[in-house]
Amino acid sequence: MPELVVENLKKSFAGNAVLEDIGFTVAEGEFFTLLGPSGCGKSTTLSCVAGLEHPDSGTIRVGDRVFFDGDPRTTVPPEARNLGLVFQSYALWPHMTIADNLALPLKLRKVTKTERKRLIDDALDKVDMLHLRDRYPHQLSGGQQQRVALARGIVYAPGVLLLDEPLSNLDAKMRDQARVWLKSLQREVGITTVYVTHDQIEAMSLSDRIAVFMDGRLQQVGTPTEIYETPATPEVAGFIGRCNLLAGRVDEAPSDSGTVRVELGTTGEHLRVVRTDGVRAGQSATVGLRSERITLADRADAAGDGVNVLRATVKQCSYTGARFEYELAVGDLALHAESPVRHEGREINLLIRPEDCLLYPGPSSPAG
Ligand SMILES: Nc1ncnc2c1ncn2[C@@H]1O[C@H](COP(=O)(O)OP(=O)(O)OP(=O)(O)O)[C@@H](O)[C@H]1O
Ligand SMILES: [Mg+2]
Repeated sequence: MPELVVENLKKSFAGNAVLEDIGFTVAEGEFFTLLGPSGCGKSTTLSCVAGLEHPDSGTIRVGDRVFFDGDPRTTVPPEARNLGLVFQSYALWPHMTIADNLALPLKLRKVTKTERKRLIDDALDKVDMLHLRDRYPHQLSGGQQQRVALARGIVYAPGVLLLDEPLSNLDAKMRDQARVWLKSLQREVGITTVYVTHDQIEAMSLSDRIAVFMDGRLQQVGTPTEIYETPATPEVAGFIGRCNLLAGRVDEAPSDSGTVRVELGTTGEHLRVVRTDGVRAGQSATVGLRSERITLADRADAAGDGVNVLRATVKQCSYTGARFEYELAVGDLALHAESPVRHEGREINLLIRPEDCLLYPGPSSPAG
């Protein structure tokens, strides 16, 4: 299976730029996810790859086949791209059995009857739906229909599988199960896959790599660990997981220990954080601090060497079953934190390790 290369992709609708210079490479057999908030351009990118939308400029290739080139203009029609497509709406033909739904793309490709049966049974077997091959779509549950849609997406062995929010019609529990089998199916088939979702948990758990989109631009491409641990921008940090973004000012040059002191807000609170390249004393900065990396402690002396201690007022505490969630105030800053235990006091200490703080030059404009 070949790799997919997208370069300098631009697209506008009626003069409004929707994609700005999008570029990424999906390796052979890779599970690659386009992730971002609603309206950021994920589906438009996927549609350009599928050939359902026409980019203004850029190139799209799979292996050495050019699907689209803005200069000189070349466009391969969708049906000649040999891609597997699965959308949120399963789009099964209601008057056809499951097997006949899968037969359709094979007939279009002039596959013989005997070979069709073999391919259909094989694809249905992969999604555990072989025993329901002669039913009609209305006789299946939503989750079963979704499996059939996936089987139809892979039955003709496409070069690349394109999935646009295929699990979003399922309820939360079924979505969890579907994630597990979708991942093992993709591994088994070994197909290069581009997956679109706005659900970060789905993206993190399924993907080899994730491309984070915001406002039609690519913010970062990386493994789930890279995206979570070292988000490239405050916007990515704010979108993935629960991250406090605290406005501040660097008030000290980097020390030998590789940390700098950042003054937070306007009330003199400060944090020592691991320095980032390009951060200078006197500069405004944003500190990203994940909720689950803050340790709540009744006693400040619980902090180890070099660990920051901030004194916070508890504004609200809610029980979510697995943990307690806290809305806190530190000076004029609002923070969100989590803890496995309930702390009763109105005042609490926040223990924060310098290496758990993400430091970005400049003020932030959080998204998501
Ligand atoms: N055919 C169209 N005509 C005009 N504008 C469009 C068209 N299709 C998409 N857009 C606009 O392009 C932008 C990106 O849309 P797109 O469908 O790619 O977003 P998305 O990231 O898939 O969002 P969602 O998570 O809500 O599906 C949006 O502002 C949308 O309104
Ligand atoms: Mg979409």
